[in-house]
Amino acid sequence: MKMRVKMSLMCIMVLVMATQVNSFVGITWGRLQTQQLVPSMVVDLLLQNKIPQLRLMTSGYDIIEIFSGTNISLSVTMGNQFVWQANRNDLAYVWVNDRIKDPINKGVNIRSNRWFRTIFNTFLKEANNNQVVPVLKLIRETLDDMKLGHVRATTGHGMDVLKVSKFPSEADFRDDIKKPMLESLEEFNRTGVPFVLYMFPIHFVKEIMNYTMEFAFMDNKSGFKIVDGNITYTNAVELMIDSLAWALKKAGYPDMKIMIGQIGWPTDGYPHANIKNAERFHKGLLKYVSSKKGTPLRPGPLDIYLHSLSDENEFRTIFGTFQRHWGIYRADGNPKYKIDFSLQDRDEYPTEAKGIVKMPNRWCKFNGDTSNMYLVNKNYDLACKTADCTRLEKGASCDGLKFESRISYAFNAFFQKYKQSLERCDFDGLGKIVATNPSVENCEFPIEILAFQDQIVQNGMVLRI
Ligand SMILES: *[C@@H]1O[C@H](CO)[C@@H](O)[C@H](O)[C@H]1NC(C)=O
Ligand SMILES: *[C@@H]1O[C@H](CO)[C@@H](O)[C@H](O)[C@H]1NC(C)=O
Ligand SMILES: *[C@@H]1O[C@H](CO)[C@@H](O)[C@H](O)[C@H]1NC(C)=O
Ligand SMILES: *[C@@H]1O[C@H](CO)[C@@H](O)[C@H](O)[C@H]1NC(C)=O
Ligand SMILES: *[C@@H]1O[C@H](CO)[C@@H](O)[C@H](O)[C@H]1NC(C)=O
Repeated sequence: MKMRVKMSLMCIMVLVMATQVNSFVGITWGRLQTQQLVPSMVVDLLLQNKIPQLRLMTSGYDIIEIFSGTNISLSVTMGNQFVWQANRNDLAYVWVNDRIKDPINKGVNIRSNRWFRTIFNTFLKEANNNQVVPVLKLIRETLDDMKLGHVRATTGHGMDVLKVSKFPSEADFRDDIKKPMLESLEEFNRTGVPFVLYMFPIHFVKEIMNYTMEFAFMDNKSGFKIVDGNITYTNAVELMIDSLAWALKKAGYPDMKIMIGQIGWPTDGYPHANIKNAERFHKGLLKYVSSKKGTPLRPGPLDIYLHSLSDENEFRTIFGTFQRHWGIYRADGNPKYKIDFSLQDRDEYPTEAKGIVKMPNRWCKFNGDTSNMYLVNKNYDLACKTADCTRLEKGASCDGLKFESRISYAFNAFFQKYKQSLERCDFDGLGKIVATNPSVENCEFPIEILAFQDQIVQNGMVLRI
């Protein structure tokens, strides 16, 4: 049930989307990484791969501005700290001005293209459901005041807003949130925004339904099916969307558009989470999207955002370590698997991020001295408290490591996090720096990249980007 909680705990976001491009495939990008990809490199990566839409999970305007003139539709996340503030007129005004109006004035999101619309996507995190609509309305008014009528405000939802059952036709919104849900729907309908759904079939199939994992894939190989009246479902994706469609219908909105704000497959930290399955899932999903056939209840094109561009090794793990492994790309900008964003089902790796500089080939290892186990454990704990050790957890890719290697993994993660600074491989004398890659089989000891949020170092000079 871990991910279940996650759904009600997300934050507010702003979406910019091209409503005329049906069956668009965008991608989400979060920045909770030790060494972040440089935004301009991400822009390049999206252009190279012809990904038309990016949903940025932050609203840093220094990042937003980099998209100026690129014709990439951008969506921006409004974090909790702003949600509370947005309850105040003046602060909502400042937020919208800084994060939306200014960038649009600077050419972000093709301001001259009347086909493109911006969508605010408000997804409440640790928030009272009753706050959704007031915040949405306030943002809406603020946008209108600023003559940004084409910018829309909406909110996203996990599957956990639904009471699901075996049959989509029995789905409905949960009783305990029905009232605020109906208020949200009224507001969405009033302002003409889609219902944004975040869906993770791997979790739905395993935790919610307890079906065979094959049902999560869209290549229809399992023979497993759910028959609901005269409709047969052969995969979870269509079943999930139609469950929502039924709930919307029962609430009085049979025609409200559904948009998938997040869909993906993690590669580590969860049963069935691996690169092979992620590739298979996306292959089936993108083929399905490009077919534009839609679901039995909602035939026609579907707009989706794939989740996510790259791993985030500093993401909270309170719902599970898989949260750090959603990336289609590794944290260093290399693709993990084959995926064709252009929807032509080519069997190719996507273009990697250009211009990324890796740290030197150096790793930090445990020297093997176990004479003082207290010190070993203390340093292991210290390393894993700060750096990302999620791959060491049960069922994850480095779970099988022998004791010494586990300690080495932790030491290395810490060392890399601090940009290979020599003193970060000391560990009371238990660490040593090596030049041979200690990675074993599936367990990779990563090296970080030389890339920073706001600056890039070239020939010893710090350049702002
Ligand atoms: C911008 O994107 C839209 C939709 O993808 C496309 O129709 C248009 O030609 C693009 N404009 C430029 C200048 O690339
Ligand atoms: C949704 O909006 C449309 C158009 O504004 C309106 O005609 C319709 O009554 C609304 N639906 C509900 C259930 O309020
Ligand atoms: C899930 O299904 C399997 C067999 O299909 C069963 O053995 C198991 O007990 C079920 N788990 C739960 C939590 O219902
Ligand atoms: C899935 O495969 C079965 C046969 O195995 C076929 O009857 C059915 O039409 C297929 N469904 C889809 C959606 O392709
Ligand atoms: C399926 O059943 C629904 C009602 O249960 C009916 O309205 C619809 O026409 C049926 N569709 C087909 C293709 O038989």
